[in-house]
Amino acid sequence: MNFHDSEKLSAMLQQMGYLETERKEQADLIIINTCCVRENAELKVYGNLGELKRMKQNNPNLVLAICGCMMQQKHVVEKIQRSYPFVDLVFGTHNIHRFPELLNNASQMEGLLVEVWDHEEDIPEDLPVQRKFSSKAFVNIMYGCNNFCSYCIVPYTRGRERSREPEKIIEEVTNLANAGTLEITLLGQNVNSYGKTLDKEIDFADLLTLINQIPGIQRIRFMTSHPADFSEKLMDAIANLEKVSPHIHLPVQAGSDRILKAMNRKYTSDQYLKKIELLKTKVPEIAISTDIIVGFPGETEDDFLDTLDLIRKAEYDSAFTFLYSIRTGTPAANMEEQVPDEDKMQRFNRLVELVNEIGLRKNLSLIGKTMPVLVEGISKNNANRLTGRTDTHKLVNFDGPEYYIGKIVPVKITEAKTFSLLGTLEE
Ligand code: 5AD
Ligand code: SF4
Repeated sequence: MNFHDSEKLSAMLQQMGYLETERKEQADLIIINTCCVRENAELKVYGNLGELKRMKQNNPNLVLAICGCMMQQKHVVEKIQRSYPFVDLVFGTHNIHRFPELLNNASQMEGLLVEVWDHEEDIPEDLPVQRKFSSKAFVNIMYGCNNFCSYCIVPYTRGRERSREPEKIIEEVTNLANAGTLEITLLGQNVNSYGKTLDKEIDFADLLTLINQIPGIQRIRFMTSHPADFSEKLMDAIANLEKVSPHIHLPVQAGSDRILKAMNRKYTSDQYLKKIELLKTKVPEIAISTDIIVGFPGETEDDFLDTLDLIRKAEYDSAFTFLYSIRTGTPAANMEEQVPDEDKMQRFNRLVELVNEIGLRKNLSLIGKTMPVLVEGISKNNANRLTGRTDTHKLVNFDGPEYYIGKIVPVKITEAKTFSLLGTLEE
């Protein structure tokens, strides 16, 4: 979501006549688009601000702006006003469309300009976007979240859930297809509840059916899906719509029912596993990835063993693993029994080991198969080697000519590693 917001900011700047530079020292304007889902991301911003202070001292004409989720928190904005007054502009997630005007105003005044809206307004449509890749693109289908998982700051920074009108989404995807985009990723904090805030009868599976009909688009991906809203109708859509990729990111967060309840996740481990089983019978080639948090308040060794057990049963292709991070303002921040860092770390290492072991096993089972790969670019370490993604979102490296970049080509898998595959071009 943040990455895509940055693409929108880039496009606005381009329309204002700005050019991008790879070198910070050359920049007349630097924007930090922040995330606050975990503390690490916040600490990085303050680290960066220290460096930018020195740059600003050397170049007083440099304009500094900070935006994104962190700015939606009052205490953060107060800290910037207090400790980093050399910043020129602060704005939030709800008024990103006002950036050109805010930048203009900030450039003409002394001191820090702050504009953060507490609440979301109507969805701003027709914002320009400067896409980082030509063959694949992100498209927002909804904003915000109503789930209030007890550890999560997102509902407070991104506001209430609201869906974009399907006509607007179709129009954007059609324009992308006409411009040569092959793959689109539909974005929302919880795409499975798409349509609930619209005054027409449409759900996420219906939207996928509409997008599947757009000529030119070859791959449809989406994230993120909340397991509680993951319906059989959506499973059937994944199974039957030929352009929808056989991959789902289905964050489980924990395997212990007690912890899932305290997290306010609204499903049990059994319900979750049953959905996965059903999905696997409908789409046998499905790749499944997830998010897992260790060290949620009150998590015992037994709770953690339940998580490991669930991971073994779900057999994830990959997982993003996180240490629980206290987010001020969320219910979990006030829970007693915060888990000591040592225990968190020790569990985290065991978790990663298991996730990697299963991921490697799944990758090894692909050796000998031929898979369609959307070629993204040249491998960092080898100029003759191309890198791309299968429709199951696995990273594949293989030797091939540069003109395949941006195309989908068949690749036979010859070797498997934990996080990537090696293959040869099938001609
Ligand atoms: N601590 C650790 N991980 C978190 N996530 C969200 N909030 C927190 C937190 N407070 C993780 C969840 C979510 C992913 C985007 O970030 O796993 O799915
Ligand atoms: Fe956060 Fe839960 Fe919403 Fe995901 S579903 S954004 S974890 S509150």
